[in-house]
Order: sequence, then structure tokens, then C-alpha cells
Amino acid sequence: MDLTIEGKAYFNGCFNDCCIGIKNGKISEIKKILKGDKHLNFGNKLILPAGIDLHVHFRDPGMTNKEDFSTGSMAAAFGGISCAFDMPNTIPQTTSLENLSDKIITADKKSYVDFGVYVGVIDDNISNLEKLAKKCSGFKIYLGSSTIALAFDKRKLRKALETISKTDKLVLFHAEDEELLIKNKGVENNIVDHLHLRPSVCEETSIKHIIQASQGLNLKAHICHLSSIEGLELLKKRPNNISCGVTPHHSLLSADKPIGSQTFYKVNPPIRSSFDKESLFNATKNGIIDVIESDHAPHTKDEKDAEFNDAPSGLPGVETMFPLFLRLAKKEVFQFPRVISLLCQRPADLLNIPKGKIEVGRDADLIVVDLKNEVRIKSDKLHSKCGWTPFEDWPAIFPSNVFIRGEKIIEDNEIQVSQGFGKFVGA
Ligand code: DOR
Ligand code: ZN
Repeated sequence: MDLTIEGKAYFNGCFNDCCIGIKNGKISEIKKILKGDKHLNFGNKLILPAGIDLHVHFRDPGMTNKEDFSTGSMAAAFGGISCAFDMPNTIPQTTSLENLSDKIITADKKSYVDFGVYVGVIDDNISNLEKLAKKCSGFKIYLGSSTIALAFDKRKLRKALETISKTDKLVLFHAEDEELLIKNKGVENNIVDHLHLRPSVCEETSIKHIIQASQGLNLKAHICHLSSIEGLELLKKRPNNISCGVTPHHSLLSADKPIGSQTFYKVNPPIRSSFDKESLFNATKNGIIDVIESDHAPHTKDEKDAEFNDAPSGLPGVETMFPLFLRLAKKEVFQFPRVISLLCQRPADLLNIPKGKIEVGRDADLIVVDLKNEVRIKSDKLHSKCGWTPFEDWPAIFPSNVFIRGEKIIEDNEIQVSQGFGKFVGA
């Protein structure tokens, strides 16, 4: 055994004082007493699986003034995320074999954490999806346009899904109906206008369409960043091959931000009323929602500091997501098993990667958590290039140590490995 780690570890649904043996980056044994060549005793601290973020925008290539694979993955690491899956709306977009392999090469050089890369489905690559599936971690379909990404024509959705269903890949959806978005188009001066331009019915219509278009197919589909009560009601009755995620911002924030700083809450789909927020929060707590995903979509402070109409949509979140929910678990607002299912197990299972759970045979991706270590989130302590967070001053618990494949990557608030440690997963 290369390493043994001792502490209060979460496995088989509860916490046990025990030792985790690690060999060749994998968990090889879990026992009350184990001694390896190297032994680390974390005493009473919790040992949990590291988180998996199935939705990030690391902006690399093309928008590296906002973020790149190095800073994005560093932020992920400090937030206890061992593996992040990158969205295709970069410049160029990740829609061809060439752009996909370029992105993987870049990330391979720069990433501190393991990573996956999605391919965006567009008109031009429908006939090539089976080939692309062999090289990518999954597919993303924008049914409504957003930053860089143009909407995919919903009349062609069935055909695209038929092809994807022949592969083993997950397809993730941005569910806003483009026709309705176009109908509503106009100038927006504040967050209320933004809500009127992108009302819940856009999400509802789009989800209906996805459910319909995937009927009878052997498809694994995921609805990203659910934002409305209406969307949630529909998904309560979804077939079980459709999963759904919420973000920390849709489940913890509502659109009552004072005028002036409202651009910092501008995001698609929008952060809605406190009723929507409460419903999403409760659904996340009680099991209707499968995963919590950050939708880490950084834009710089300068870019956000614009007239509402001109400001870009999107918020950062990969570093704060797990720490916010660990603190909620400590306060017993959420149960630990639920938080671990939402942030670790379900995303790993949906993406079919051997992580997200303390179990023999899985990657030794672990975090060490001291529940006494509660702090207030401060943007100047975070690692994203964007330099701000919508969760400024929120209480959170950051992991004190992070391991990926048995290597210690965070200790004493310092990164312990060099850029490029992260490996591509999920192809
Ligand atoms: O608000 C958003 N920002 N929604 C998206 O779908 C994309 C994201 C971004 O990339 O900035
Ligand atoms: Zn996104």
C-alpha cells in the first residue's frame, strides 16, 4: 500500500472511524486498522469523497481573460472538487474533433484537477456524433442561446438524440425555448426585465420538448440548472433516464438584489423569486434533484460592471459550492448523505467515472473536513480569475486537505502539485 489515511470516513452510508488504504491511486482497502508505507492520521476530522462538478465554463480557449484551465481548476481544487466537466461554449466552440482534441491538450497541460470535456451539438456535427462520442465526455445541447452558444434547432432534436442514444454518453441540456426567447427579446434595464425576457414558461416549454423528444430512446439525459417551480413540477414526473441538476445560485439566491449590483446576479436561466428558490432548495434536500452543479461561468468584475443590458450573464461558483453545502450539512439543514449523493456519487454515476464514493476500486479522491473550520467566503481568498463571488460573506467550510488519485493536492492552503497534474476522464 502506498498510503493509508485514518479518520472519520463516510462509506456505506455512514461515518466510521477507520483507515483507507490506497494503492496506485485507487482505494484498495477500508479497515478499522491499516498501516501503509505512509500513514496520515486525521483524527476526528471527516473524510469524504471529493466532489464532481459536471458543469463548469473554464473559458479556455478564447476567453482566458475571464478564466483558464489553470485558474479554474485551482479554484475547483480549493473547493474540494477533484473532477470538473467543461462546457463547449469557448472560442472556438468545442464542436469538432479538432477543437475537442486541442482543448484536451490544453487542459492536460494546465489542469490541477481531473477533467472532462463536452462537445456541443450543432447542425454541422449531427452526422459525426458517434465518432465524437468516442473522444468526449458527453454532449451539451443549448435549446436557447446564451453566452457564445447558439441555440440548436429543436425540430432536429429527435434526430440528434436518436444518434446520441446509440452511444453511452450523457447529453446535457440548457433548457430555455429559443422561440419564446426571441419573441420576448428587448432591452433589459434590471433584473426584473431579465426575468420578463426569460420567464419560467421558456424553461417549462423546453423541458416538455426534451421529455417528448427522448421518449422511447435508450438515452441518458440531464437537465442542467433547473430554475423554476414550473420546471420542477414537470420533472417530478420525469422518466428515470432523465436526471436534473440545480446550482447553488438558483437554490440559495433570489432576485431581490438592490439596483446597482444587479448585473452580478444576471445569469441564464435567471435567478428567480424566493418562491422558486425555496422550492428548488426543498427539492434538492428531499431527493427530487439528482445533482448540484456549479455552472461556474466567470466574467470579470469590469465586464459585470456595465449597464444591465450590456453586462454578460453568468456567475462563478466552482470553489464555493461544496463548502456552502458542507456548512449546511453541519447545521443539519441538509443531511450529509444527501450532500454527498448530490455532489459526489450521482454526478460520478451519471458520467460513468470511478470516483465520487469511498469504495474499494474507486479513485482515491478524498477531502478532509474539519467542521469547526467555518469561515466567511471572501472573494480575495478565492482562486478564479474573475475576482468576485455572489456568496461574499456567506459562511462555508472549505476542506483542509484534498487528495486526487491518492496524491495530496491541497494542504495548508497551498496547492501541492504542479499544473498538468489533472488527467482527462470520461471518454
Ligand atoms: O448565464 C449563463 N452564462 N448561462 C449560460 O448558459 C452560459 C453561461 C456562460 O458561459 O457565461
Ligand atoms: Zn452553463
